[in-house]
Amino acid sequence: MQIHSPITDLRLALKNRGRVVLVPTMGNLHAGHIALMTAARAHGDTVVASIFVNRLQFGPSDDFDLYPRTLNEDCDKLTAAGVDLLFAPSESDLYPEAQQYHVEPPQSQNQLDGEFRPGHFRGVATVVLKLFNIVQPQAALFGKKDYQQLMVLRNMTRQLALPIDIIGGETVRADDGLALSSRNAYLSAAERAEAPRLQRLLQRIGTAIRAGETDFARLEREAANELDQHGWKTDYVAVRRQADLQLPGDDRKQALVVLAASRLGAARLIDNLEIDARDGR
Ligand code: PAJ
Repeated sequence: MQIHSPITDLRLALKNRGRVVLVPTMGNLHAGHIALMTAARAHGDTVVASIFVNRLQFGPSDDFDLYPRTLNEDCDKLTAAGVDLLFAPSESDLYPEAQQYHVEPPQSQNQLDGEFRPGHFRGVATVVLKLFNIVQPQAALFGKKDYQQLMVLRNMTRQLALPIDIIGGETVRADDGLALSSRNAYLSAAERAEAPRLQRLLQRIGTAIRAGETDFARLEREAANELDQHGWKTDYVAVRRQADLQLPGDDRKQALVVLAASRLGAARLIDNLEIDARDGR
């Protein structure tokens, strides 16, 4: 695997590479990231991974300094996964001057994670557009684990008419159901044992809705209460439409997704569960 840091080097290395597929990450790679790398192979000729811990998307009290940086191990994993090129810019490669032009996602993104992480999606959209401009891929993969992020980036790509296919990858989980995340490393052993409760509760909500429950507010409230009774500090549990993450209306046939974010110890964990379109009972 080739590794490039300066933008000019990467651009040279990407000449005559056929269809290029990009998988952006912040590193500290786990099986969820690697599944995206493996899936990327089916979408083009050259698979490019990027690793960059993007300061712009972290709030002042977020874990930017703490975020695990493990470049050597990451390189081994990417090589084993058959990735062709790694773009691993330094801060001064990507932000040689203070970034003053930003991509501002619409007001509707200031809900869910956007409500609890002001400016987060602006930072994500800005760096991803910048990575798109540097790498100029024909396709890019993002995980459904960060469901709202995937939607923001899909909408940005469509509205700005970027010639890039955005592909979503399924969430990879530990055997007990916990979604893999770099932030799981912040959990103590006791917290790690507690953490699968989040996905279990989402499953329970999915089961209730499939069985005909329509009082979504009650389901959300009960799940948040149960988490908080077990030592979590819940930001939200929300049942939304898959199509636009807005509140479900009365249409019983639409596909729903339940999303949650909650803090357990030093880790803020997010997860979601798609609930298939119902049969119009
Ligand atoms: P990061 O958290 O490193 O995630 C990189 C990609 O891996 C994202 O598309 C994310 O959704 C996906 N991913 C994370 N955990 C996953 C899991 N358990 N299963 C499947 N996919 C998973 O998301 C970011 O970085 C950044 O915001 C980024 C898009 C790189 C912009 O800075």
